[in-house]
Amino acid sequence: MDMQELVQKLTLEEKAALCTGLTAWLTVPVERLNIPSIWVSDGPHGVRRAEQWGEAKPATCFPTASALASTWDRDLIAELGEALADECIALGVSVVLGPGNNMKRSPLCGRNFEYFSEDPFLGGEMAATYINAVQGKGIGTSLKHYVANNQEFERMSMDAQVDERALREIYLAGFERAVKNAQPWTVMCSYNLINGVYGSENKRTLTEILKDEWGFEGFVVSDWGAVHDRVASLQGGLDLEMPGPRHERTQKVIDAVKAGELDEALLDEAVRRILRIVFMAQETPKGDPEVGVSAEMFAKHHALARRISGESIVLLKNEGDLLPLKDVKSLAVIGVTAKEPRYQGGGSSHINPPQVDVPFDELAKLAGDATLTYAPGYTMEPGFDQSLIDDAVKVAAAAEIALLYMGLPDWKETEGLDRPDTDLTEQQIALIKAVAAQAPKTVVILNSGSAVTMGDWGADVDAVLEAWLMGQAGGGAIADVLFGVVNPAGRLAETFPLRLQDTPAYLNFPGENGVVRYGESIFIGYRYYDAREMDVQFPFGYGLSYTTFAYDNLQLSTDAISDGDDLTVSVDVTNTGSVAGKTVVQVYVRDPEARLVRPPKELKGFAKVALETGETKTVTITLEPRAFQYYDPLYEMWIAESGTFEILAGGSSADLPLSASVELTSTQKLPCKLHRTSPISHWMQDPRGKPMVEALMAQMMANLPGMDGESDIWLGMELMPLRVVLGFFGGEGALGKSPDVIIDEMLAQAYKED
Ligand code: BGC
Repeated sequence: MDMQELVQKLTLEEKAALCTGLTAWLTVPVERLNIPSIWVSDGPHGVRRAEQWGEAKPATCFPTASALASTWDRDLIAELGEALADECIALGVSVVLGPGNNMKRSPLCGRNFEYFSEDPFLGGEMAATYINAVQGKGIGTSLKHYVANNQEFERMSMDAQVDERALREIYLAGFERAVKNAQPWTVMCSYNLINGVYGSENKRTLTEILKDEWGFEGFVVSDWGAVHDRVASLQGGLDLEMPGPRHERTQKVIDAVKAGELDEALLDEAVRRILRIVFMAQETPKGDPEVGVSAEMFAKHHALARRISGESIVLLKNEGDLLPLKDVKSLAVIGVTAKEPRYQGGGSSHINPPQVDVPFDELAKLAGDATLTYAPGYTMEPGFDQSLIDDAVKVAAAAEIALLYMGLPDWKETEGLDRPDTDLTEQQIALIKAVAAQAPKTVVILNSGSAVTMGDWGADVDAVLEAWLMGQAGGGAIADVLFGVVNPAGRLAETFPLRLQDTPAYLNFPGENGVVRYGESIFIGYRYYDAREMDVQFPFGYGLSYTTFAYDNLQLSTDAISDGDDLTVSVDVTNTGSVAGKTVVQVYVRDPEARLVRPPKELKGFAKVALETGETKTVTITLEPRAFQYYDPLYEMWIAESGTFEILAGGSSADLPLSASVELTSTQKLPCKLHRTSPISHWMQDPRGKPMVEALMAQMMANLPGMDGESDIWLGMELMPLRVVLGFFGGEGALGKSPDVIIDEMLAQAYKED
């Protein structure tokens, strides 16, 4: 169907109405022209089909984004996407409101559990895979929250002040990857302002970057309630306002068009984008929401949720190979979340699952003859109760091994609020220490959506598992990992710092007076810890296994590339231990010398690989041209500089035993940026300026008796404007012309060559 034609048939009133929701979840239909309405639902780790804001229909609750990213497994994320699409179809939902791909700027962001990573490459790959899988089944996605929504504190009114380079290389980069590689049907704008303009009205981010530069073809939907001025938002590039109805705003749009204040072509374009997706959605037949997801599909998806959760669990510590549990006679199960699991986060992503695995029961199923005892140890409410700790210590002291299930409560981590700190609760910390002091062996199982700091309790315990917000089947997945049914293969998608005070945004989070400055710029996550050479609790990309791996034989497809070339990297990885397992080969690029400051290394490729004992596989990873580039705000473009790049490979950001180098020759021609006060060094870096300055200096030296190039007087001179230096030494006497005239002539020449 020709959308343009259809748009022409609509009245102004119909067009304005189409750009705002009918309800919280429905778009506006136009019966006269057989334009149906479509249903959208949260998202992202399950389908929350609720009538308005009430209880949602049952749907599988999968692990949340932090867990998904920790699998580093594109195939598994694709399976998840297909399962989500199937449940959308069953529930009559056309678009699932996910994935969330904001960067984890600070571990304090209350919504980090809904986001993938601190790294835009990893986040972008996960998001693109999710989107392609869902959309491959004819269901739409909404990539959110675009952009710089990295905290919950005053999220609806905060102005995120982010420099252009950080925006491009970090905050936009994950969205860019997902948009270009997967074309989400919709992108959801963020609530916050970006450099002074609301995400919902931001022409720069919505129109110029997302639509014009990246070629986004879908429609931009507002986050729920993010629109403040409907006319300004249409002018900025926001197509659909949600939720609706907002009759007075629709009227304002009509009035603005009639008054000539809003170009009707902008409204037409928004309508065209919305209708295109509405009709695409129609092509996928849906089930009856009253019937919902079948028992058979639920059973299949429960098994998938368990598999994903098992793959996402990160074994952080395993002293003396305590895990997997073997020949154990008695286990003390401590922690209220062993019976009442913490498996998803609070807020709009809350799914209503058909069943939830109880960790204690799942443990019992695999524990054979071992006796299991239990004590709650803490409650999920704020407060401190010593008697619960005392009871737990008694239970733990009588068993061989204590398993401590530590779920971070909602009041410590939820949408709408940032975390007060990165610690477990006071009661949980006291409990771990008291139990570890009495129990022969202690294992801590964490359920949190983001990094947790361990203070000194980490050293007191024998083993630690990070099980994330693990979804409805996570209880079984934990048992699988504890007993070695699953060999842990999760890797951290975010750094676990030693202390909150060490984190990159510590001094600038969450901002004040309505403004948050991203002072750490491009240095978030491991980019920051690497650059500062700081110790962390557990580095990005880290995770243990019940087996060991060796990385060998790093090969590059070539040792010389141009700026438009791919580079293929291959690595041999061998399972050197005694059980089958999986690892993630990670490839980082290091640019030792650049015009602008760069992080010591950046993730640019990865692959998850399964290996039997003794097996070796050659893993091949392609690095795209972007892998070598940085964004230069001066030139407003991505730049690959000529020079040597190091390719580092291994099993985590802190364990990269392999390296090789490649020589890049750039063919990029940079526009001239010289100006009247450019320092000499800038003239020398410019291919047009260099010969001119060399000739000029030679002429000046020749006319300055007693001066030579070695003199101390030249120290620091290259940092001064050429014009000033000419004035100091040459002036009109030595050069025959005034420095101002010389500079203007040189600039004219340089720009002529441009
Ligand atoms: C959240 C979005 C969500 C929307 C609809 C908003 O408050 O930020 O992520 O999709 O509500 O529930």
